[in-house]
Amino acid sequence: MLNFYCWILLSCNLLVYSATALQETNPHYKPLPSLREQAQIRDTWLNERISRIPSLLKKHGVDAWLMSQREHAEDTIWWSIKNATDYDAHRRTVLLFHTNGSALEGRPNPIKWVDNTGQVWPELLQTLINFNPRRIAINVDENIAFGGGLHVGEYDTISRALGPEWIQRMVNVPLLGIEYVTTKLESQLKYYRDMQHIVWLMMEEGFSHRTILPGVTTTEDLGWWFREKMLTLNVTTWNHPRVSVLTEESFPGWSGTEDIIHEGDLLHIDWGITAMGMNTDTQHMAYVLRDGEIDAPDSLKQGLKKANRMQDIHLDIMRAGMTGNEVLEKCLVQMKIEGIEGQIYSHPIGDWGHDAGAVIGFTNLPQHVPVLGELTILPNTYYSIELYAYHFVPERNEIIRFRIEENAYWDKETERWKFVKGRQENLWLVDQSRNAPLLKVQV
Ligand SMILES: *[C@@H]1O[C@H](CO)[C@@H](O)[C@H](O)[C@H]1NC(C)=O
Ligand SMILES: *[C@@H]1O[C@H](CO)[C@@H](O)[C@H](O)[C@H]1NC(C)=O
Ligand SMILES: *[C@@H]1O[C@H](CO)[C@@H](O)[C@H](O)[C@H]1NC(C)=O
Repeated sequence: MLNFYCWILLSCNLLVYSATALQETNPHYKPLPSLREQAQIRDTWLNERISRIPSLLKKHGVDAWLMSQREHAEDTIWWSIKNATDYDAHRRTVLLFHTNGSALEGRPNPIKWVDNTGQVWPELLQTLINFNPRRIAINVDENIAFGGGLHVGEYDTISRALGPEWIQRMVNVPLLGIEYVTTKLESQLKYYRDMQHIVWLMMEEGFSHRTILPGVTTTEDLGWWFREKMLTLNVTTWNHPRVSVLTEESFPGWSGTEDIIHEGDLLHIDWGITAMGMNTDTQHMAYVLRDGEIDAPDSLKQGLKKANRMQDIHLDIMRAGMTGNEVLEKCLVQMKIEGIEGQIYSHPIGDWGHDAGAVIGFTNLPQHVPVLGELTILPNTYYSIELYAYHFVPERNEIIRFRIEENAYWDKETERWKFVKGRQENLWLVDQSRNAPLLKVQV
């Protein structure tokens, strides 16, 4: 083999090879705005979101929303309410959102106290007495994180400070936190698209001969390549890149596999990036070409196609106003009609990789999800459409789960979810023959 490559190099123009390789190793990543601009953009979004809280309170039948937290023990909602240049809450930060009625005219919304002397409590009490809200939402839900972020020490402190009369007016309204966190603004989509472009370019580069040397590179090497690459692209992650060599046993989980990547392998990645207060969550698959192959075997393409069909079914059925379980049930019925076996486990995405709101299946709850599946799917949200199709691969005599995931936004015109940047319809191909001559020369 080595002789053969040397022969190619001698008989071809070395410069041509170098130029091609150079061009290939520099895919064009469009930079996100500078951090300073990002902060301005994020605060504009934040102000718009916060300005909707008074009407959100009215919609959910409450007059106020009280949050209290200490530095390092923040309410979950804090991360969707804080300014871009703020991080942890300072000292004890108490926020009182109100319906902005005449009783609190001229006061900010939220009214905010940062305190470590106890001074907040008489002031809060006096504010409540003046405002006289009948129902005050606090985040004490037992099941929903976005409605359950009030720490128990804070609750005890509030109870003592305000007394039973006010505690009686406190109500648990988890839908408030869910709707606040999960609702997207139209102006976010442009940047969410840019993030998806970064993700796709990274996959194109990661699943290629530029990054993988079959027989040498491991799945973990590749996972860490993605981690390091993110640093150079000024994005972070909420989800360590999990790279697997897919086999019959591979099941969606919280880790990749520990394998050396070989020719003929079917690869899979599950990961997301974080930037500008938003998160992505993507799963794609790749095939490592064998010597002489120019495309993936047809059986693998068919498996991906089947998973694509499940995506179509999912997006066709999914509507705002349905519960997660209703969507799940209808998808399963349609899959059965079409003879497709597989599983769906989609979730909202946005401020968090796993965002607030109705989920559509779980890997361990394939047919019905208590609580989170019973929630109603809200419009103006992003969803991560996550699923797998079983497909028999005769060459390997194995049934493989074809696992893919793409992020979708709610399209106002059609009132449907659409993929932010299309979807994977072709396996990424790792084509070792493309840089083998150069690699051989380097060693
Ligand atoms: C990352 O940030 C640095 C510093 O602001 C900038 O020079 C560079 O162009 C950015 N790179 C990308 C790909 O966004
Ligand atoms: C509250 O009302 C004032 C006018 O009284 C207005 O300027 C402000 O934007 C309102 N705040 C919110 C959060 O709606
Ligand atoms: C965000 O910044 C504004 C302007 O400085 C300030 O009024 C507001 O209280 C801050 N929000 C929070 C949640 O700290």
